Amino acid sequence: MGFGEAAPRERESSSAHGPREAKRSCRGAMAALRLLLPPSTNNVSPFFLSTFSFGSLSIRPREIGIMAAVAEQVVADLREKCATPASLLRDVASAMAGEMSAGLEEEGGSKVKMLLSYVDKLPTGREEGLFYGLDLGGTNFRVLKVQLGGTKKRVVDCESREVTIPPHLMSGTSSELFGFIASELAEFVADEEEESTDLLNGKKRELGFTFSFPVRQTSVASGTLVKWTKAFSIDDAVGKDVVAELQTAMEKQGLDMHVAALINDAVGTLAGARYYDEDVVAGIIFGTGTNAAYVEKANAIPKWEENLPNSGDMVINMEWGNFFSCHLPVTEFDQELDKESLNPGEQIYEKLISGMYLGEIVRRVLLKMSLQSGIFGDNDHCKLNKQFHLRTPHISTMHHDETPDLKIVSEKLHEILGITDTSLETRKMVVEICDIVARRAARLAAAGVAGILLKLDRNGSVDNQRSVIAIDGGLFEHYTKFSECLESTLDELLGVEVSKSVTVKHANDGSGIGAALIAASQSR
Ligand code: BGC
Repeated sequence: MGFGEAAPRERESSSAHGPREAKRSCRGAMAALRLLLPPSTNNVSPFFLSTFSFGSLSIRPREIGIMAAVAEQVVADLREKCATPASLLRDVASAMAGEMSAGLEEEGGSKVKMLLSYVDKLPTGREEGLFYGLDLGGTNFRVLKVQLGGTKKRVVDCESREVTIPPHLMSGTSSELFGFIASELAEFVADEEEESTDLLNGKKRELGFTFSFPVRQTSVASGTLVKWTKAFSIDDAVGKDVVAELQTAMEKQGLDMHVAALINDAVGTLAGARYYDEDVVAGIIFGTGTNAAYVEKANAIPKWEENLPNSGDMVINMEWGNFFSCHLPVTEFDQELDKESLNPGEQIYEKLISGMYLGEIVRRVLLKMSLQSGIFGDNDHCKLNKQFHLRTPHISTMHHDETPDLKIVSEKLHEILGITDTSLETRKMVVEICDIVARRAARLAAAGVAGILLKLDRNGSVDNQRSVIAIDGGLFEHYTKFSECLESTLDELLGVEVSKSVTVKHANDGSGIGAALIAASQSR
């Protein structure tokens, strides 16, 4: 699962500035600087103002110092606006728990949709047989074949194939997207048939479909798409039953498969982790997007109008990416990102913490810093001007640079943004910007987890009851400073005693195997 490596259609930023505007805005910044700097530095030389240009770098050391001071001011402002003290995070956690209750109360009761998954029994480990999984949620999708061997053997075999979705299909039509998926699935099955003909002993293939977007389910194997998130926007699919769309496309390919379960990746992560550990209470994704699923008592869901399931439980797909609270530290950079996004006004929590957006936030800060201070010298800004050109894996690499002269940062700035000849001081500022943005994300993410524990009444130690939080997603898996900060912040919020009973676990590939496991548990 990705964490922003996918290209969500790069666009020229509407707030794009060419070198001329940059020069003008740099002069403006110098004027503003007269007001900001201490009196001793207030008399910025008219020589500087009249000769500074991006094309000729005849700048004196004193002027370089002024440029650095302006750049540092941008970083200091960002640091202040992104601050997440524990008191703010506690407010975020309470707001999350409150929104969860409101979303369970009635349909549309909260921006956090709290969607019913219709999964009332999670895998136990006893599941046996051959099941298929289809995992769609990012710019790649995966087809899996999973052989389950029951309590002792568990997952006996798992084969998978990953396919990149051509970008034009992410904003085309529903039938084009599902047609493409079904044709790849048909190819996978055809290859398998060549290898062995009696895999299923005449039985129909059972498929678990992980579809990682908000879906209002009508049963465990059907549901309509509420809206697209991340880099998808296929208008004619909204409001349609995604299983029916897939089933039609599979029939056109002559594929004899039955969709036994439709699940979200957060639900799959919960199921996959529960298969091995019965203390898992929630499954969370920090990848390109973010979401959480957890087990709720069915009688604590006022909006559930049907008969209570036998198990008494219901897995809830929270869709927490759409969470909003006045406590969230939203900056001008986030507001502009949101305004220019595919889904303005939506998924604000996701836009602050998930892999699709962190690199883009950093890019916006770097652009402002460069325009105001001229710190990147006469480099061409066309790459820094491109939306989504700087991705989260890039900022992760720069953030983790431990070389004494920040050589890796220098290489990445050159390779990705075409920025050369930076000073060590400038590179340190770049790292600090990555740190501020990633740390805010991780701390807000931890507050979300604390909110779930609060809702479940597991934020105090109850008779040593163990609570395991299973987390999947490329951001959590590969951005070490993000995951470390998330875990330490959770400890900070829960306190020493309670954190002893809460375990955060990396759950690998829940979205793939989870779907096959739920398909299996539904067919028992
Ligand atoms: C989607 C969720 C999904 C999450 C992680 C979000 O954008 O709305 O349904 O679970 O991304 O993939």
